[in-house]
Amino acid sequence: MRIDILTLFPQMFEVPFSFGIFKRAVDQKLIDISLHNIRDYTHDKHHTADDYPYGGGPGMLLKPEPIFEAVESIKSAIHAKEKISALPIILLTPQGRPFSQQIAQELSGHTHLALICGHYEGVDERIHEHLVTDKISIGDYVLTGGELPALVIINAIIRLLPGVLGSEESPLNESHANGLLEYPQYTRPAVFQDWPVPEVLLSGNHAQIAKWRREQIIRRTLERRPELLAKTTLSIEEKRLLEHLISSPKESPLILNKEFRK
Ligand code: ADE
Repeated sequence: MRIDILTLFPQMFEVPFSFGIFKRAVDQKLIDISLHNIRDYTHDKHHTADDYPYGGGPGMLLKPEPIFEAVESIKSAIHAKEKISALPIILLTPQGRPFSQQIAQELSGHTHLALICGHYEGVDERIHEHLVTDKISIGDYVLTGGELPALVIINAIIRLLPGVLGSEESPLNESHANGLLEYPQYTRPAVFQDWPVPEVLLSGNHAQIAKWRREQIIRRTLERRPELLAKTTLSIEEKRLLEHLISSPKESPLILNKEFRK
């Protein structure tokens, strides 16, 4: 996968790509990251990438010309190498669709992506209307720019690419992979301070362990993120358990946990 990033601060990407899974993916050529400094596509003496909003108001906006030009140059570089008809051009903005594991999965299916990191008070509306094909927000809060959101999104995408995680780090069982939260996990020691690992996990009974884990997924999601249950298709067994938990809260100490009910 190739990801082109348009930013005023390409240095913000250097450290994250020098470590861990990011670095491994780059070294193994599973991902090719191209950084483009938006200022390199300006043509005035001061490399002006931003300007005042028409009609007044606080802050500065990113100008359209350098960003359109940068995207054009990325498209021609890609087209020179291979024929791709649709390059997703994604603007990181608090006005975008909320990022999720499902969107990470969707994006991981593309061979190329272009990410535009907004800055200042935002970007000229013509970028929204006539250039980008998608807008993504990483949450209902405002950051100073799209660089951290871009890193979040790239991180979530590349760990789904085949070969990036070792088989022991499989993303299949983790939280959100199936729309629900992950079951609790324990490692040695079997008793830490006064807290033992649930007995079933030490039993060696794989069927019982699998059942316990399925139950924990439902209990935990009901307790912490109940809205996820409404969005997910549950098996008959899971539905039965959910109905049981809802109708008899005594059965589920987790549901009574006041901290999570607030
Ligand atoms: N730029 C500033 N805040 C953002 C957010 N929450 N998501 C995506 N891009 C942003």
